[in-house]
Order: sequence, then structure tokens, then C-alpha cells
Amino acid sequence: MTTTSQPVTMDKLLSLAKRRGFLFQSSEIYGGLNATWDYGPLGAQLKRNVKDAWWRSILQHRDDVVPFDAAILMHPATWEASGHLGSFTDPLVECRSCHQRFRADHIDSNNCPNCQGELTAPRQFNLMFKTFMGAVEDTASEIYLRPETAQGIYVNFKNVLDTSRRKLPFGIAQVGKAFRNEITPGNSTFRTREFEIMELEFFVKPGDDDDWLQYWTEQRMDWFVSLGVDRANLRLRKHESDELAHYAKEVYDIEYRFPWGWAELEGIANRTDYDLRQHADHSGQDLTYFDDQAQERYYPYVIEPSCGADRAALVFLIDAYQEEKIPPRKPGGKTETRSVLKLHRSLAPVTVAVLPLSRNERLVPTARRVHEILRQRFNTLFDDAQSIGRRYRRQDEIGTPFCVTVDFDTIDDEQVTLRERDTMSQLRIPVNRIVDAIEDKLRHGW
Ligand code: GAP
Repeated sequence: MTTTSQPVTMDKLLSLAKRRGFLFQSSEIYGGLNATWDYGPLGAQLKRNVKDAWWRSILQHRDDVVPFDAAILMHPATWEASGHLGSFTDPLVECRSCHQRFRADHIDSNNCPNCQGELTAPRQFNLMFKTFMGAVEDTASEIYLRPETAQGIYVNFKNVLDTSRRKLPFGIAQVGKAFRNEITPGNSTFRTREFEIMELEFFVKPGDDDDWLQYWTEQRMDWFVSLGVDRANLRLRKHESDELAHYAKEVYDIEYRFPWGWAELEGIANRTDYDLRQHADHSGQDLTYFDDQAQERYYPYVIEPSCGADRAALVFLIDAYQEEKIPPRKPGGKTETRSVLKLHRSLAPVTVAVLPLSRNERLVPTARRVHEILRQRFNTLFDDAQSIGRRYRRQDEIGTPFCVTVDFDTIDDEQVTLRERDTMSQLRIPVNRIVDAIEDKLRHGW
């Protein structure tokens, strides 16, 4: 078996994503809404698995982080204090001929990339979506959709501190929707106007911040690798001083080698005490921390790993896609090509597919019984349509790590065939041991 070294193209990946039900253009029957995407049955499960994996590593496996879930709508004063009203902008230029708009820092030439027309001078465009709260549409009722979840954590810092009685260093984590009116969204779910973000605000003693930035940068890089992303496709890039966000002292991007080149996957920022100080100043509330060991009061610094769930799911899909040439089984036979998503087993939308060899009336009830046993423990799928070979290919293409096949021998010997996706090797296992066998393979590999 040989694996192609060709990197996957976005066309190929998006065709698979649509054909198999990972991703659909939003409102497709009305012609689609630009740069917004809906997750189909497999995509919804994949994204949930990505968020669960993040949650496990950031919260469940540690004892210094607590969960949070702030509302999307916040008091408008939040955005004044955080600096988003003034500084959350991108430089926008418009073509005087075709009126297409571009981010000035995303284009190379001084002319329109679309028609070569003359461009306007750049102006700062605020990325926050504005809407109205209540029945009156006036400036007093203007409100914003949050562009990050972090501010919900900062304005609740005191609430969490008082109720969870935490000592520094500790973190507050949340996953939720964010909205940005991007000038040039694109590359499917890489840059959209509505997305989900997984954010940790980790509060530390000033002076310890550089070490914690280093720590979280390494942790986050290792997380992607632990979930199967090839380390050669990841790199770290430190922000230059002229590209730092208005709140940041130092930022590292984890970049991924996308089909169109290296681009940001996740940012890890040292936000200093900027946000807590700003909210304290604007609200008049005391947001300091009392350090009872040092017997002093100060604003903690914040280290923030922040990752888009949609962007991470896209990376897991791209990195998992492979095409393999399978040599003919008999002399003179044809070489086959199989597309396979080598998704990490904890991310794959389906863990076990149950396949009766055929729709024979003696096989199907036995296969249903085996399915019933497996679905109590795993994400499963029952498929009895078409030939067994085609069904194996279908499961390979959606990344299912294990197939359990029920054949005529099963009826007599109560054993099923367990097939593994990557090696395509098979084992006979008694039905009463199949759950343990899969658990064991999930933990220790095939
Ligand atoms: N709270 C910090 C923050 O929001 P950011 O670098 O602007 O930092 C963090 O965003 C992450 O969110 C990015 O690394 C990316 O994974 C994701 N992200 C940002 N904008 C996005 C967009 N328009 N569409 C999809 N994901 C986006």
C-alpha cells in the first residue's frame, strides 16, 4: 500500500465534506449566505468531538481551571472599556471601479486584485456586528455581538474568584460563538463571520507571565500533535511589535501549513493586566486580587490561548486526508485508490460502523443486536446498503476507525470481524468481548 505525498486540495476536501455530510453552505437553497457554513451530521459530531477534546485537556485533566459560559450579548460599556470599539479594526480599501472591498494588509499591489482599478486610501473598519436591543432602534439601544468570549470572563473575574475561592495561578475557560464582520472571509471555515472560539484566560502573578506564556504555547502545540496533526505541518510564529493586538505584550501564533500556505491556527497571548484594569477603571469596581502569601493586592496578568473550533476542525480534516494506492489482490487485477480520513479516534464522528455482510433476513437481526450492544458505549452507525467493499470505503472516507462485520458464521459461532481503518487488518472477536476489544484498541492502538 502506498500513500500519496500530494497535499490535499481544498476542492477535494470540500467535495468530500459536502458529499459525506460534514459541511454545507449556509442557506444553500436560497443561493447561500457568503462565508457562513452549516455542519451536517458528521461535521456536527466532529466539531463536538474537537470541543470535547479541548475541554478535557484544558479543564477535566487539570485542577487549576474552572468552566464558564457568558452571554453573547454584553453591556455596550464592555466594548468601550476593552478597546474593541476604538481598536478592533482592519484597514479597508475599496476599488473605485468595481467597488470590491479588500483588507489592505491582505493584498500585495496598490491596485484592485479583481480589475486592476484604483483603490481608495485605507480606512479603519470596525469588525464588530452591531444590532439593537429592545423595540426601539436608536443609538441608546445599540448593542454588539461579542467578537471574543474573553470579555465575559474578565467582567466576571470577581464573581468567579469570590465563589470558587481560587488562588493564583488559575484559569477560566469557555467555548462559545463569536462574530466578526470580516472584510475578506474565505477558505471555507478558515475565516467566517460567525464562528466558535475555545478560550482560556489564565490568571498569573505579574512577573510569572513570561514563563506561563512559554508553558501554554508548548501545551497547545502538543495538543494538536497528540490528536494526530503532523508536527511538520505546525510552526510557531512570534508577533512583530507592529502587529500586536491593542491589549497584548507578546503573542505566539501556532500556524498550520494549509493548502494555500502557512496561516494562523491559534493565538497564545500575554494580555498583561490590560483588560482587568480597563474594566476596573470603567466600572468603578475593584478587580484586584489579594495575594495572602505576599500580603499585597495587584491586578493579575493574563495568558490567553485562544483557538477557533471551526478552524481546528478544518485542520484536523485537512491533516487526516490521505489517498492510498492499494495493489491488486490477484495477478492482473486493478490497483485501487482509497481516500481515507486518518482522524484521531477521539475525533472521528463515528467510532464503530456495524455492517451485516448482506441484507439477508438471518443476518440483519444479529447485526442489529450487535449494534445495540456497541451503541451503548460508542458513536456507531449501522449500514447495510451496497457491497461490503463499498461500505468499507465509505467508512474509510469519513474516518471511522473500526468496522464490525456480521457474517453467516456469526450466527453459529457468535464471533464478528473487527476491521481497522489504517491497516485494513481484521480480527475475529467473540460478540461478548467486542466492547472490551474495541476499548482496548482505542486505548493502546491496533
Ligand atoms: N481572544 C483573543 C482572540 O480572539 P484572535 O487571534 O483574534 O484572538 C483567536 O482569535 C482564534 O480564533 C484564531 O487563532 C482563530 O483560530 C479563530 N478565529 C479568529 N477569527 C476567526 C474567523 N473570522 N473565522 C474563524 N475562526 C477565527
